[in-house]
Amino acid sequence: MKKLGIVGCGAIGSSLAKAIAEGKAGNVKLISLYDKVFDRALKLVKELKDNIKACKTFNEFLDTKPDFVIEAASQEAVRDYSERILEMGAELMILSVGALLDEALRLKLDSLAKSKGLRIYVPSGAIAGLDGVKATRNSKIYKVTLKTTKNPRALERAPYITEKRIDLKNLKEVKEIFEGTAEEAVKAFPANINVSATLSLAGIGQKRTLVKIIADPKTELNIHEVELEGDFGRIYFKMENKTHPENPATSYLAFLSALQTLNSALSYGLIIGT
Ligand SMILES: NC(=O)c1ccc[n+]([C@@H]2O[C@H](COP(=O)([O-])OP(=O)(O)OC[C@H]3O[C@@H](n4cnc5c(N)ncnc54)[C@H](O)[C@@H]3O)[C@@H](O)[C@H]2O)c1
Repeated sequence: MKKLGIVGCGAIGSSLAKAIAEGKAGNVKLISLYDKVFDRALKLVKELKDNIKACKTFNEFLDTKPDFVIEAASQEAVRDYSERILEMGAELMILSVGALLDEALRLKLDSLAKSKGLRIYVPSGAIAGLDGVKATRNSKIYKVTLKTTKNPRALERAPYITEKRIDLKNLKEVKEIFEGTAEEAVKAFPANINVSATLSLAGIGQKRTLVKIIADPKTELNIHEVELEGDFGRIYFKMENKTHPENPATSYLAFLSALQTLNSALSYGLIIGT
């Protein structure tokens, strides 16, 4: 049975921990939790009423020797911890996928995982349709665009909003607040636009994937519209995601996707889909 550790006890990490405790993830035992806000890990351990360690430091977390780690924390966490997790010999799932648009980091982690015979899982997260996007890489792709619409509440803490002094609190109408490449989007909205990172890694890369972000005070959904054109024809898909009850910036689907990725990673036999 795999021993699992989770870094980040917020919306996704807590939902995953609870689902795993309920046996929804297959042959795995949750052994340790780490959050830079220790009380969050402690609170979750108390809720789970199981023999799980809430760790005060990342070193303490590594000492519990998980052989599968889920990062559900932040881009900073991916940068600071991934190498040490892989060095220890654990497989890794990354939710804060924006961090992987740093090419040097991505290549380093990829090559370390290969040298150790380990996998790094990046769930589809808040979008579906990546099977189609991956398939089109074998053809010529002319363009990939992502249009993301969220309630201003989900966007207001982003560095881009603070730096540009955009007033989202008093927004009454739909407003386009950002247009740029996926590379620019993940820097401007590090906790919001992981979808653009996953899409660009699956498709034509962070410099050619174009992103628009719209604030809509009348929506309670996280809406992602993706369009691809190429030799294969045109693909268009639209996600209308409910937000996670604990975090309006996060789609509930992102948690479901991480849970399913874990299930697949732990399974043998029939594999359906790309
Ligand atoms: N891949 C996707 O499609 C997708 C979708 C939604 C969210 N996400 C990303 O997944 C991550 C988790 O999302 P969430 O909604 O659970 O966030 P959240 O803010 O609810 O929880 C994150 C938790 O991680 C902790 N944390 C942050 N940095 C840390 C660090 N360096 N070390 C230890 N703990 C740290 C925080 O204290 C917090 O408790 C975020 O980075 C988010 O951007 C990805």
